[in-house]
Amino acid sequence: MKIIIVKDYDEMSKVGADLIAEVINKKPEAILGLATGSSPEGLYSELIKKNKNNEIDFSNITTVNLDEYVGLSGEHPQSYRCFMNDKLFNHINIDKERTFVPNGLAKDIEEECNNYDKKIEELGGIDIQLLGIGNNGHIAFNEPAKELSYGTHLTGLTESTIKANSRFFASMDEVPKTALTMGIGSIMRAKKIVLIASGESKGEAIAQLVSGKITTEVPATMLQVHPDVTLVVDEAAAKLIK
Ligand code: F6R
Repeated sequence: MKIIIVKDYDEMSKVGADLIAEVINKKPEAILGLATGSSPEGLYSELIKKNKNNEIDFSNITTVNLDEYVGLSGEHPQSYRCFMNDKLFNHINIDKERTFVPNGLAKDIEEECNNYDKKIEELGGIDIQLLGIGNNGHIAFNEPAKELSYGTHLTGLTESTIKANSRFFASMDEVPKTALTMGIGSIMRAKKIVLIASGESKGEAIAQLVSGKITTEVPATMLQVHPDVTLVVDEAAAKLIK
C-alpha cells in the first residue's frame, strides 16, 4: 500500500486528481469507478479544470459509481446521480450515456444489482476506483458487519452513517435508510484503487485501514490485501497511523 500524506484537503484533491489523470492519459477509454461525498468534491473540481485546459479528455471514458440511495430519483438533489451530474459530469466532455450509477428507484432491486455487476464485467472491469472512507471504516456502503457481500447489493445504513450524511438533508428522518452499493468483491477487482481522506474524524478509520487486523467490522481493512492501493490522506487524517 502506498501512502501519500499531504498538507490539507486542497493538496489531497490535486494529488488525487493527478493520479486519475495519469490513468486517463495512459488509457483514454478507461473505466473509472467513482465515489460521492465531501471527500471527492475538490478532486472533481480539479478534474474539471484539467478538462477545460485540455489536459485530459473524457470523450471515451466510462464511469461507474459506487452507490445510490434507495428511493431517490436521479433528479432528487441529494441523490448520488444528481451529485455526480452537478459536481462533475455536467462540466466535462463525457458522454452521459456512459456514466453509470445504480438506480435507486429500480422496481426489481435484485435484477438491478445483477445488471450492475454484469455491466461492470462487460466493460472489462474498473481501471481505477476512487474511494472515500466512512468514519466507521465503511467503503462504498459496505458497512461494518459480521459478513460482507461480494457483488452489488441492497444494504441498510448504520446509525453512524445516517447521522454523518444527515448534514446534506433537512433532518435525520429524511436520510434514506437503505442504499444500493457495489460489494467488496467489485471494489477489490478494480485494477487500481485510490482512497482519499481528510480531517481528524477519519483518523481512526485510516489507522485501522493501514495496520489494523483485517476484519469485516472495518470493511476498509480488506484493502490491505489489494495489490495496488494508494492512500492520499491529509495530516489530520494521517495522525493516528502507526
Ligand atoms: C460515497 C461512498 C461513501 C463515502 C464515505 C465518506 O459514494 O461510497 O463510502 O465515500 O461515506 O464520505 P465523505 O467523503 O462525505 O466523508
